[in-house]
Amino acid sequence: MLDKSDIHSRLEAPVLKDYGVYLAVDRLLACQKPLADLVTPDELQFQIVHQVEELWMKLAAFTLAEVDEHLRGGQIMRAITLFGRVHMLLRMMTDQLALIETMSPYDYQAIRLQLGNGSGQESPGFQLLLTLPAGLWDTYRAKYLEPQGRALTDIYDTGYTHDEAYMVAEALIEFDELFQKFRAHHIYLVHRSIGMGSKAISGRAVDLLDAGARHRFFPELWAIRAQMTDRWGAEYGVKRDSIRHGDAGHGSGV
Ligand code: HEM
Repeated sequence: MLDKSDIHSRLEAPVLKDYGVYLAVDRLLACQKPLADLVTPDELQFQIVHQVEELWMKLAAFTLAEVDEHLRGGQIMRAITLFGRVHMLLRMMTDQLALIETMSPYDYQAIRLQLGNGSGQESPGFQLLLTLPAGLWDTYRAKYLEPQGRALTDIYDTGYTHDEAYMVAEALIEFDELFQKFRAHHIYLVHRSIGMGSKAISGRAVDLLDAGARHRFFPELWAIRAQMTDRWGAEYGVKRDSIRHGDAGHGSGV
């Protein structure tokens, strides 16, 4: 049988060797409520998931600042590698939301009482991340569009060579897509835990989260694909003949 109170006291007063000192494990483990004060055991995972997500957002924002510097300095390979790190962080952030879904809606109601007026809307990491894509887009334009007098259509379509300008643009749109996937999964989490018809702690209807999930950081990068498809449609027909033998006139339209 496990000795629960011994486990709790070792969690709250960890023995530190060099590893623990370097990583400040004592301070890290003190960032959650004292175990005796938890309103439900699920509150510990609720706090830890949010704190871990905040740390990943810190690393993502820090890394995007590095990416921007490398893009401006022409170190493209390094920028692409670091972009990959940010993409991985966003995927992990999204996957980790599922942890919270192991908590019952009933247990969450008790935790909700503890939050004051706080909501994820106030997350410093999230608020910072929301502001960064605009600066990255400026860098992209200054590096790949304006000096060469190029437009996205040159990079994606008429002058397509799968070059650096294309690779960096794809890294940007991947960030956009992954960020919105985080928001979309978070909306499902809200559906699961408090329901979408209810009012948020801030008093705002949670349905407004949908508006955030429809936002695009780099609308031009999304638009270029539609422009290419429309141009192609104008040339070959939006609706085409079927490729099935003897079934002319019913194009799939894809
Ligand atoms: C039981 C679990 C959760 C519930 C019920 C919940 C609920 C909500 C609600 C209702 C909002 C809208 C707030 C408002 O209108 O002021 C919101 C926003 C937000 N929450 Fe959560 N949340 C949960 C877990 C999480 C987790 C684990 C994260 C991780 C970081 C998170 C991050 C966010 C963020 C970033 C926003 C702002 C989203 C945006 O503006 O698109 N939430 N949450």
